[in-house]
Amino acid sequence: MNQRIEPYRIESEPYYRPVSDEVSLFEAAYARRIPLLLKGPTGCGKTRFVEYMAWRLRKPLVTIACNEDLTASDLVGRYLLDAAGTVWHDGPLTVAVRYGAICYLDEVVEARADTTVVIHPLADDRRMLPIDRLGELLHAHADFELVMSYNPGYQTALKDLKVSTKQRFGALDFQYASFDIETEIVGREAGVDADLASKLVGIAQRSRDLRGRGLDEGISTRMLVRAGALIADGVEPHAACRMALTRPVSDDEDVLDALDGFVDAFFGP
Ligand SMILES: Nc1ncnc2c1ncn2[C@@H]1O[C@H](COP(=O)(O)OP(=O)(O)OP(=O)(O)O)[C@@H](O)[C@H]1O
Ligand SMILES: [Mg+2]
Repeated sequence: MNQRIEPYRIESEPYYRPVSDEVSLFEAAYARRIPLLLKGPTGCGKTRFVEYMAWRLRKPLVTIACNEDLTASDLVGRYLLDAAGTVWHDGPLTVAVRYGAICYLDEVVEARADTTVVIHPLADDRRMLPIDRLGELLHAHADFELVMSYNPGYQTALKDLKVSTKQRFGALDFQYASFDIETEIVGREAGVDADLASKLVGIAQRSRDLRGRGLDEGISTRMLVRAGALIADGVEPHAACRMALTRPVSDDEDVLDALDGFVDAFFGP
């Protein structure tokens, strides 16, 4: 195995609690090398799932956080000047394609349209990456797999993925887990008992009903894990919920009053 890819191996099993049939579906997609879109709200487990699948399939994982400044060269690579002169450096996408990693493009709608176009020939049955600067057409390693995440719902039509991009992918829908499973996840991740975890999940579930009525998105599993960990550290529950759950999601007084009401309902006034 090549040295360039070794740092991307996941040594120990990440904790991932399956919520549905996503593990077997990912395996089926991987067996056919169908690129995947993971759709779902923030903090619901998409990144953790990919880490777990990479570990399970014994493949290195190259994660690329997309933003609007990300250029095709950031993904593919560029010439850099060093003591030996100008030397080509593979970008993270090229490393994944060359050595056979799972490449995870996080928040891909944030990337510019010309950046997403770079992945088109990789995401269809050509499975290749043209590296213009090198005049090279790189055929993907047999193990290479492309996975992208995005949060539908926050995007305006302007920022949505192109149809031609979407149609190259299979898609897995993610949602916040059911009450019992989310309680299990929060208990395990925050190191708190089921009673406390279930109260936090209760607050989050109510907050999610405010979606579209003042909240863009409800309180996520990620936030619950933080709140639980703070309480486990001895922070008073109302204060922990204010800091970790309610204040980050809204600035609107009425919405905050409603959220504080949910906290009081579970932890007492
Ligand atoms: N099914 C799950 N199994 C284990 N942990 C989970 C699960 N779902 C959520 N978590 C917990 O929630 C946290 C946030 O999940 P993750 O970072 O995967 O969210 P995400 O969907 O990638 O969010 P974003 O879209 O903002 O990147 C994880 O660090 C983990 O503690
Ligand atoms: Mg993520």
